Amino acid sequence: MPQPLVLFHISDIHFGLEDERALRWVEACIARERPAAICITGDLTMRARHREFKAACAWISSLGPPVTVEVGNHDMPYFNLIERFTDPYRRFRAIEALLERQLDLPGLAIVPLKTATRAQWRFPWANGWVTDRALAETLTAIDQVPAGKRVLVTAHHPLTERDPRGKRLTINGTMAMEALAERNILGILTGHVHDAFDIEQPTAKGSLRMIGAGTLSKRIRSSPPSFNELTIDESGIKVRVRNLEDVPTPAMQIATVPENALPPRQPEDPVAPVGTVPTDTPRVH
Ligand SMILES: [Fe+2]
Ligand SMILES: [Fe+2]
Repeated sequence: MPQPLVLFHISDIHFGLEDERALRWVEACIARERPAAICITGDLTMRARHREFKAACAWISSLGPPVTVEVGNHDMPYFNLIERFTDPYRRFRAIEALLERQLDLPGLAIVPLKTATRAQWRFPWANGWVTDRALAETLTAIDQVPAGKRVLVTAHHPLTERDPRGKRLTINGTMAMEALAERNILGILTGHVHDAFDIEQPTAKGSLRMIGAGTLSKRIRSSPPSFNELTIDESGIKVRVRNLEDVPTPAMQIATVPENALPPRQPEDPVAPVGTVPTDTPRVH
């Protein structure tokens, strides 16, 4: 990797409930700084309405740098269950038509992992599920990356399988984390929880860097709207959580992965306050 690469990691814009001020600010940052690529880790829309996808397409088309987008749980039809079951990605394909699915940059390949599903044997269907097929596709793509290139994986849901209370979050998340750790990827970029994080997660097969971006919507959880600026060089990835309120990066990052963007944190919720790092959690960058 001859020159450091700067990527913008954006997530959970939720067109339909987007934060206009934050979006205008991000557009200006992109136009001024011209990152090498923009990775959007899902939940482009609020309810997968046609008008929301139209706004998302127009926004992505206006940006300039290459863009990758993962499908989020909010990007499948919510009101039309027949379409959700028979053709869940029809609306999302309008976005995919604007993009390259897998991005090759100097010294770096960005490989997607699908974690959103049209339905699950549990309810609600918002949480992640890494199917055997999705994981196999991602691992095959990683194994085909030429020697000398590093790999970043992008997905919508963090792979954390259980929250601190033992509740199941992403099905097969542990297996997927181990498989990715074994391949020594640079890290996995995700969204979904609407707060940023940067966690070095130990697994049975080695350590996995998990980087989450916050939201650019009005659906905030415990931090203001933000995106991640990633600087990648020989030494790895440096993450800066950029936000309009000038909150420093460590104070923007949560220490553990919560269940979901909503409901807001309750007093009895074990999720740590923003910026604090409990001693029994994985190391946070
Ligand atoms: Fe979201
Ligand atoms: Fe989500």
